[in-house]
Order: sequence, then C-alpha cells, then structure tokens
Amino acid sequence: MDDTPAVPAHLMGAVVRGAGRGRGLGFPTANVAADPGSRIPPPAIYSGWVVRLATGVVHRGTISIGSNPTFCDTEDVHVEVYCHDTSDNLYGERVGLWFVARLRDTVRFASPDDLVRAARQDVLRSEALLASDRGRRVLTRALAAYGKTASA
Ligand SMILES: Cc1cc2nc3c(=O)[nH]c(=O)nc-3n(C[C@H](O)[C@H](O)[C@H](O)COP(=O)(O)O)c2cc1C
Repeated sequence: MDDTPAVPAHLMGAVVRGAGRGRGLGFPTANVAADPGSRIPPPAIYSGWVVRLATGVVHRGTISIGSNPTFCDTEDVHVEVYCHDTSDNLYGERVGLWFVARLRDTVRFASPDDLVRAARQDVLRSEALLASDRGRRVLTRALAAYGKTASA
C-alpha cells in the first residue's frame, strides 16, 4: 500500500502504568517503557504485533508513539499499544512490539471524541494490514526471533 510505507522495526520493553485515560476513551492502552538503547520509531500511529515475551502469546495492535498532544503539553514521548483482541492490562509484563506499517501522523484533536473517531478508523486499517502478506511476514519474523513457530 502506497500510503503505508514499511517500518522495519521492533522494540522491546516493560508495560508500565500510564495516565489511565485510555480506558475511559474506550481504547485502553498498554504503556511500554522501551528498553534503554531501543530505536523508537518517529512519533506517529502504527499497526503492529504485540508479543508477550513470558508466554509467546501474540496480539494484534495499534501503536501510538508521541506526546498525546490532544491531552498533554509536554514533549514526553509515550509508546502505547491498544491490543485489539484482549482486555488483559499486561502490567509488569515484557513485550515486543513489531511494527507493520505507519498509519498516520499524530494529531492534536479538538476533542476526545474526534480522537476516538480517528482511533476507530486506525484500528480498522491496522486489522487489514496485520492480515496482509506484509503483516504475516512480520509476524513470522517476530515469532522466529523468540524461538516460536509461526502458528498465530
Ligand atoms: C489508535 C490510537 C490512536 C491515537 N492517536 C492519537 C492522536 O492522534 N493524538 C493524540 O493526542 N493521542 C493519540 N493517541 C494516544 C491517546 O492520547 C492516549 O492513548 C490516551 O491519552 C491514553 O493515554 P494513557 O494510556 O496514558 O492514559 C492514540 C491512541 C491510540 C490507541
């Protein structure tokens, strides 16, 4: 897809507590403290796979990297992932995030409702990308990296 250039990247980190705002928005996110030395992709919204390192369980995700400008005026960059297929909060777990595609720039929305509308679209596009050939290839690489077979 022309508008979704590949992002050949992954990072690992531990899930930490965020501001707790996402659940109220209907998009609870796992906030990931990237391991020191990680190369964090530039601020944007991405589709990607979430690998729970303790178990090898994989989730489909939409990842936000940025300072949450709709809500915050700081420059602090947050790495957050909304898992499409679980309501587990993942607190304290180590995860690998495997980026499949960049969806769009981060936007300072006029209202939380506008953000939620955009996030719903992001998740739909992300689902299609994860199911695509490229998405499956990234999944195979992710599973191989952690010594799992490509059965997800
Ligand atoms: C799919 C998705 C898209 C997002 N897009 C934006 C965005 O464009 N602008 C923005 O300010 N925050 C965006 N966010 C981040 C939210 O602001 C953030 O998840 C929310 O404030 C909850 O943060 P918390 O987990 O620290 O409570 C997005 C989050 C998700 C899951």
